[in-house]
Amino acid sequence: MGSSLRKSTEHALPESQLRRGQKTFSDLLERAPFGIYVVDSNFRIAQMNVRSQNGAFRNVRPIIGRDFSEAMGILWSEPVAQEIIAVFRQTLETGEPYYSRGFTSTRHDVAVTESYEWELHRITLPDGQKGVICYYFDSTRLRQAEEATRQSEARYRELAENLDREVQARTMELQLRNEQVLRAAEDLRELSGRVLRVQDEERRRIARELHDSAGQILTALGLELGSLAEDIHKIAPQLEVRMAAAEELVQQLHREIRTTSYLLHPPLLDEAGLSSALSWYTEGLSQRSGIQIHLDIPEDFGRLPRDMELVMFRLVQESMTNIHRHSESVTAEIRIVRESDTVTIEVQDHGKGMSQEELRKIREGGSGIGVGIRGMRERLRQFRGDLKIESDESGTQVLVRIPVPQNLVAGFAQPLRPAI
Ligand SMILES: Nc1ncnc2c1ncn2[C@@H]1O[C@H](COP(=O)(O)OP(=O)(O)OP(=O)(O)O)[C@@H](O)[C@H]1O
Ligand SMILES: [Mg+2]
Repeated sequence: MGSSLRKSTEHALPESQLRRGQKTFSDLLERAPFGIYVVDSNFRIAQMNVRSQNGAFRNVRPIIGRDFSEAMGILWSEPVAQEIIAVFRQTLETGEPYYSRGFTSTRHDVAVTESYEWELHRITLPDGQKGVICYYFDSTRLRQAEEATRQSEARYRELAENLDREVQARTMELQLRNEQVLRAAEDLRELSGRVLRVQDEERRRIARELHDSAGQILTALGLELGSLAEDIHKIAPQLEVRMAAAEELVQQLHREIRTTSYLLHPPLLDEAGLSSALSWYTEGLSQRSGIQIHLDIPEDFGRLPRDMELVMFRLVQESMTNIHRHSESVTAEIRIVRESDTVTIEVQDHGKGMSQEELRKIREGGSGIGVGIRGMRERLRQFRGDLKIESDESGTQVLVRIPVPQNLVAGFAQPLRPAI
């Protein structure tokens, strides 16, 4: 009796405690911010919060009391369901908790891919039996967002790499083009240099030809006329005046041919150097053009390489031709100074000058202008010299600077020593 009373008292107390406990348990389950369910020792779903019933298990009905393996079979494909069931069994039997790592699978019931974070713990149920409680969190959107981020990062990386590759390819292409343009410019420069050299050679040849063949014939003709004149004096004195005129014409022609020949290539340049050649040239030009030319070049200017002297002579010649043709100036000054490592040539007139537009075009060296000044620049390039042109309504100045090769500098000092 006592014992049964004790027993009933003992029984009554756990009963209410049990109910309270169960109530608390259910409340906790419902308030939890994630899915929770309990699988009992018979592998049936004993409890599940509403969040879970309407969430992952939305297509499993009835649910409470349902065989867990059956429920898994509804939700997941066979192998996935078997895996889940195995870990539930493991936890139920050993009490070892289980934590899933990045579970993602395609649902069997709705054919969508879902991700879950879940963990299992063994608990003792109110009836004293063991069971497994599963907490899970639907991380599908989180995983999708992660995947999207990963993909966009990969895409971004790919784009950046592509961009980098493209930039490199473009840079290479540009470098190549640049090299081609530079090479073409170099070729052109070389070609125009060669044209100028050929032109000089040709002038030299024609000059020699004129001087040697035409000159020789004229000399012979002059001699012939001379002896003819002697005969005429004896046998037909009335023809003497006409004979003298013919002789004069031959001499005139001879002079002109010589001048043309010397202008094409002044022999004095090779024989006596720049100073003498320019003196001869300016004197002749002064007479022919009426321009008063003041030439300022030291007599002991010394010698420079033949090519260099020719370039300097041609520079003065072209500048003077321009003055004669374009400036309307009646005076001109040529000043040539040799310093230890440079020669400067200055050719100045007091004519009408060039328009600013023309000056700009000439300085840029583009097309649409004559070849005279461009030719001067080309000739100078060979010797690393430079040319500047200043011009306004009071006249034009051409200023040229040519470096003297260093191996000539030592030799240059000698002519400056006082002659003994
Ligand atoms: N001393 C100068 N005074 C005024 N204008 C000048 C003078 N020198 C050159 N110019 C102007 O500059 C232009 C270019 O000169 P450049 O010597 O290059 O060519 P060009 O004399 O016209 O022809 P080319 O020399 O090819 O026979 C000339 O056409 C002329 O208008
Ligand atoms: Mg010219």
